[in-house]
Amino acid sequence: MPKSTQATSSRSTSLHGTITVPGDKSVSHRALMLSSQAIGRTEIYGLLEGEDVLHTAAALRAMGVGIEKRDKVWIVDGVGVGGLSAPSEVLDMGNSGTGARLMMGLVAPYEFPVTFDGDASLRKRPMGRVIIPLEKMGVVITSAEGGKLPLTVQGGDNLVPICYELPVASAQVKSCVLLAGLNIPGKTTVIEPEPTRDHTERMLRYLGAEVVVEEQVLGTGFSEDALQPVRESCSLQITLTGQPELRARNIEVPGDPSSAAFPIVAALIVPGSEITVRNVLINSLRTGLYTTLIEMGADIAFSNRRELAGEEVADITARHSKLKGITVPAERAPSMIDEYPILAVAASFAEGTTTMLGLKELRVKESDRLSAIADGLKVCGVKAEAGEDSLVVDGNPSSIIHHPSSIRTHLDHRIAMSFLVLGLAAENPVTVDDIAMIATSFPGFVDLMRGLGAVIRFQEKVSGFKKNVLKPVPETSSFIIAIDGPAASGKGTVARRIAERLGAVYLDTGKIYRAVGVKLMQSSYDIGEAEDHASLAARHAIEISKTLKIDEIQHLELDNESVGMAASIVSAIPGVRAALLDFQRAVVASKQGAVLDGRDIGSVVCPDADVKFYITASLEARAKRRFNQLKSQTESVIYGDVLQNLRERDARDKTRKAAPLQAAEDAIRIDTTDLNMDEVFDKMWNVIQGSGRWSVVGGQ
Ligand code: S3P
Repeated sequence: MPKSTQATSSRSTSLHGTITVPGDKSVSHRALMLSSQAIGRTEIYGLLEGEDVLHTAAALRAMGVGIEKRDKVWIVDGVGVGGLSAPSEVLDMGNSGTGARLMMGLVAPYEFPVTFDGDASLRKRPMGRVIIPLEKMGVVITSAEGGKLPLTVQGGDNLVPICYELPVASAQVKSCVLLAGLNIPGKTTVIEPEPTRDHTERMLRYLGAEVVVEEQVLGTGFSEDALQPVRESCSLQITLTGQPELRARNIEVPGDPSSAAFPIVAALIVPGSEITVRNVLINSLRTGLYTTLIEMGADIAFSNRRELAGEEVADITARHSKLKGITVPAERAPSMIDEYPILAVAASFAEGTTTMLGLKELRVKESDRLSAIADGLKVCGVKAEAGEDSLVVDGNPSSIIHHPSSIRTHLDHRIAMSFLVLGLAAENPVTVDDIAMIATSFPGFVDLMRGLGAVIRFQEKVSGFKKNVLKPVPETSSFIIAIDGPAASGKGTVARRIAERLGAVYLDTGKIYRAVGVKLMQSSYDIGEAEDHASLAARHAIEISKTLKIDEIQHLELDNESVGMAASIVSAIPGVRAALLDFQRAVVASKQGAVLDGRDIGSVVCPDADVKFYITASLEARAKRRFNQLKSQTESVIYGDVLQNLRERDARDKTRKAAPLQAAEDAIRIDTTDLNMDEVFDKMWNVIQGSGRWSVVGGQ
């Protein structure tokens, strides 16, 4: 794959072919976890080799499970229930909520502590939903603020089995509790008000555990033409008898219906198409999308049904279809929870309105999917409205506008794949900003789609502007643009755009202080003590800043309020500033042209910068911007708190002894309170053009 992670899909002529999609993600996680708890050797066929599952394999290996791949088969040497050993490192679960939550259950009963962490997206996802039941069992848990990762679980001898009623319809929570119950004597019960995927229960039984499911049907809503009717309203009580002896048995992982959904919807919306996806899991608790598409008029047929390791599979054939809008009931959400992004794409090409209900959980997936879908569709010219818990899409196949569109995926694999599918049937191309995350669940997606006839190109990442429209005078000279200002003034956004436009490197110096702050938070020192310059914490921060590496900074999760606070504290320590001054200057000296933003670039770091700006805005305007930004990332943000935090940061930045925030005398001040970012950029660009340091060599 080229270096770039951006891709564009364009209108394609009909799609044809017979394919298989990678193994089911849910079954793959469970295959590794449960075979690790069996006595003996398991061979797993068709395991999804996506990054999410590979993280689970690595975590199990770190706890003494023998896992290796021979040819196409994964071999797991189980250690038996209770046989895991203490890992010597933090378990990094990458992007995977399933991996993290299920593994927490699996290791929770052990008397040794285990710490879990994940990428930026996973660190934002709620873990309270598994912390609560595990604590009821007696597990001791410490977590980052708000019940988030990084998080440490520790069990012991005194754990008790529980009966737990799920407050959210979540197979991950159910599985977490059952997996914990696996290693606790007695009966662990989970009551789920709405049935969710039952792969854990099925596989536990397949390996010899006693799992009793009692069903209380509260009402039915069976769809006539659907493959396997989804139960619309029924409560289940699932009871596992703890500490069973699991026997190793080979497992074949069927194709993932959540992955098959992408080529299948592509075939439905691209005229003249017909494709078959073979060997797809059709567990009725996973096929809500197919039920829905059939109700919308999709030509979808199931053939060759058979059983595989306790799960039902079939081949699915889909042909281009005239779709109509429908209402998708809330009760169906658990059986298609990952499929709403691609359903919304299908709905954009349907006649009439599709209303999707019961979508609250989408807000806490790999991204806030509800907003990501609605925003993306609007960019493409589709009428879409996201409510708190719902999504309404006004489809119109005949007059669909679809501008050439750039979609923000928020690093969410399913958003990326969905919008690439949309581009295959739209009038204009659709570009998604990052396809790297697709590998978490569907490695080989782009190649497989291309094999069917889809037009998808990789692209070099470019800004919305032509690069190098200005060349420095003389052409070979290096240059520096310094942009200072208080927190949330918008300086980072414009600095990045200016750097792109000039083809220069962009250095966010705040990030460097944040990196020191994060490392200090992760160490055993009390961040609060760092303000005392003579304290150990301050000395430690100085040591950290001396060893900082620019490449390392890119991989740290630095984007939250507590890190911002930590950065503000460490950046007030003179020794830290001195160490980082050299670091920043060295980075700049190694570049041909650089745009830096920070608090003291024009005044201290680069007093000889070619152009200096000081970007500011009223406290309220900045608080509003920060609030909106945070709201799109986290569940509960309180405007008053954001305002107060900013007020405190301003005070700290202005009054600190070391390099207090102040505009360099020769800086051009821009107040952005009443300007949008385009207007700010235009003002700055005019200044740069008029400075005489660059000559114009191209148009916009
Ligand atoms: C999964 C359950 C679902 C789903 C996820 C996989 C599982 O999450 O979104 O992709 O394997 O148990 P929730 O249980 O949190 O809804």
